[in-house]
Amino acid sequence: MEESHPVKETVDKVIDTVAGAVSGGGPSGTVPGRPGSESPSLDEPTEPREPPAPKPDQSGPQAFTATGQAADVPPAARAQGGEYLTTAQGLRLVDTDHSLKAGPRGPVLLQDHHLREKIMHFDHERIPERVVHARGAAAHGVFRAYGTASTVTKAAFLAKDVETPIFLRFSSVLGSRGSADTVRDTRGFATKFYTGEGVFDLVGNNIPVFFIQDAIKFPDVIHAGKPHPDREIPQAQSAHDTFWDFVSLHTEATHHTLWNMSDRGIPRSYRTMEGFGVHTFRLVDAAGATTLVKFHWKPKAGVHSLLWEEAQLINGMDPDFHRRDLADAIEAGAYPQWELGIQVFPDTPEQTFEGIDLLDPTKIVPEELAPVQPVGLLTLNANPVNYFAETEQVAFHPGHLVPGIDVTDDPLLAGRLFSYLDTQITRLGGPNFAQIPINRTHAPVNDMLRDGFHQTAVHSGVAPYKPNSLDGGCPFFAGQQEGGYRETPVQVPAAGKVREAPASFADHFSQPRQFWLSLTPVEREHVIAAYTFELGKVYEQAIKERTLRVLAEIDPYLCEQVAQGLGLPAPKSAGPLPSVEPSPALSQLGRTWPTTGRIIGIVADDSSDLQAVRAVRQQVLDGGMVPLVISAAGGLLGADSSDPVTVQRTFATARSVEFDALLLAGAPAPGKDAYGARDAKAGNGTPAGALTDPRVLLMLSEAFRHAKPLGGWANAEQALTAAGIDTAAPGVLVADSGEAALQEVVRLLGQHRVWERFPTAADIV
Ligand code: HEM
Repeated sequence: MEESHPVKETVDKVIDTVAGAVSGGGPSGTVPGRPGSESPSLDEPTEPREPPAPKPDQSGPQAFTATGQAADVPPAARAQGGEYLTTAQGLRLVDTDHSLKAGPRGPVLLQDHHLREKIMHFDHERIPERVVHARGAAAHGVFRAYGTASTVTKAAFLAKDVETPIFLRFSSVLGSRGSADTVRDTRGFATKFYTGEGVFDLVGNNIPVFFIQDAIKFPDVIHAGKPHPDREIPQAQSAHDTFWDFVSLHTEATHHTLWNMSDRGIPRSYRTMEGFGVHTFRLVDAAGATTLVKFHWKPKAGVHSLLWEEAQLINGMDPDFHRRDLADAIEAGAYPQWELGIQVFPDTPEQTFEGIDLLDPTKIVPEELAPVQPVGLLTLNANPVNYFAETEQVAFHPGHLVPGIDVTDDPLLAGRLFSYLDTQITRLGGPNFAQIPINRTHAPVNDMLRDGFHQTAVHSGVAPYKPNSLDGGCPFFAGQQEGGYRETPVQVPAAGKVREAPASFADHFSQPRQFWLSLTPVEREHVIAAYTFELGKVYEQAIKERTLRVLAEIDPYLCEQVAQGLGLPAPKSAGPLPSVEPSPALSQLGRTWPTTGRIIGIVADDSSDLQAVRAVRQQVLDGGMVPLVISAAGGLLGADSSDPVTVQRTFATARSVEFDALLLAGAPAPGKDAYGARDAKAGNGTPAGALTDPRVLLMLSEAFRHAKPLGGWANAEQALTAAGIDTAAPGVLVADSGEAALQEVVRLLGQHRVWERFPTAADIV
């Protein structure tokens, strides 16, 4: 496998950017998340000047015209300019604090053009949110092809060493635009490749299968998953009656639902998710030979998830957790990377592989049967400059294809090919959304489409029709040599028109059973807990009982355990369960991953050995991770020293769920605010003689419960013991030095959690 943008470069960049910031000293300059590119003055600035530049980690869409021609202006030329406040017409203004009135106490005058313009624009700032996937976050990046796909496709962007700018939007599906990030849900993984042959969109999810086999059921599954129409609750989750009512009756949803109930439904980070194109696509090579493929994105950082308790705590503590994590990582220079890979199948008339129907989007092809072959590396390297302009207005569409990539007759894909264009008419207000800067292609456009709302191209000529002679016959048809897109002339079997699915689509349970059997015991425990939680929130017993019948078709143990939690009898399966081979590649556990970009909390106070804290913080940075120092109050530790340590979190603002691992530089004394009336996390206050802040004890016990690595030195043992933690437990290390503690913590972090701390039920099968 070829490495082009080595992780080393990334790590070096992390060290440069974060280390520079950390040594900067000021509390705002130490961690990612600084709001602007300049530190503000204490008093309001009064000297006219040009607007500040975007932050160094930010980049807008590249400058192309509405007709796909490279514009010779810096991207920043799209931003506001000039030193003075103006109207939208560029008229300079002297005041924006007062309406024009007939005297200071008099009525406001209708002639106030500035008031009218300002309020008119504000009144129309909102646009409809996406009908699904409303909540999301995105970043710019680059895709570099290995050239390995050139044997099966002529797509120019997949040729060796070709670099293509991309924009990638992650999302959750069910919640509204303002919903919390760490809900249990599928995540969108939509990538826009700005290729020289036009835009290619790979609009996938972090789950390789879908709830339905035919797009005509999409409104049904989404209506069932969205909040109940009467009370409009619950928000952004599937733990409610309508969802389970639908999926228990419509059993083709079983496979996707099982993935949602697994750890895949609560990813740790967008950076640690796999992505899947879901459908089978058809690749075409230069000679016209075709191959069927499934697309996969494999994160370099590994596939990690939250625990359900963590996810719930985070939803309250930091509802923007995933969005912040993505932006912070990029700002810190820990650029997230994914390898794009393909599973390759012969394009046969049956369109099946090893008996698996490739047109059924509720089925996977196990990687053990068809390995994922890497074809390129994607690196996210810049945050958007403006959320609305870029992340909100980006419009993906599975029908944005390039020569060498074609669709198949998957009936779910067919409906998507209609839906994604259609929905933009309402969401983006007309048919010209392709001209919005983030959607502009980097290939010349001569489309004969004209006029419409928000037309920003200024078309010339008089003959936007074909054939014509008045515009010299322009535009002309491209042959294949000129990159003309030609649909593959696939033979369609002779048949009558029917509203029916193929017989193979009726198998709803063999792959759910395979998924269940492929998980490790602790992953199965999580699945049992998730079903029990979700069904525990369902009101109607009939729906719970019906779902148990579905679970009985997956596995008797799963069904029994969930039934036990619900206090209901466990039904038996209708017949013998399908005999399937597990696919170990479906489990997230058992491998070791890089720790780049992980968050290490360092708990310290003025009594800590600050020399050691500095050294550990530097080593964390050297390892490409982000150190956050946590103490009783903000500001600086060792403020009088020549090299003070900046505090990024306080015991009042921090919660264990923010960190992947914790290091204790001793046992920090109770802060002055460590009493329940001020901070309920401190409980009933600090008992007389207590040596450690009770919020640190809470943080430690939570982190321990969540199987996070814990390390410490100096008198850390005292704090750990006070938190009720056995210092001999797996993944707890009290060392002689900060360096030794860190080393062990990082080693453990490679497996994400200390899984030994979760003994599973003895009888789990
Ligand atoms: C394999 C199945 C599917 C996958 C992987 C998928 C994936 C996605 C993703 C990732 C997005 C968010 C795009 C963004 O970030 O802006 C999205 C949005 C959307 N999807 Fe799907 N989807 C699937 C099925 C469907 C179906 C069957 C329909 C309709 C028939 C549909 C209609 C929509 C619509 C209308 C949006 C909102 C688009 C917008 O407003 O920009 N999806 N989908």
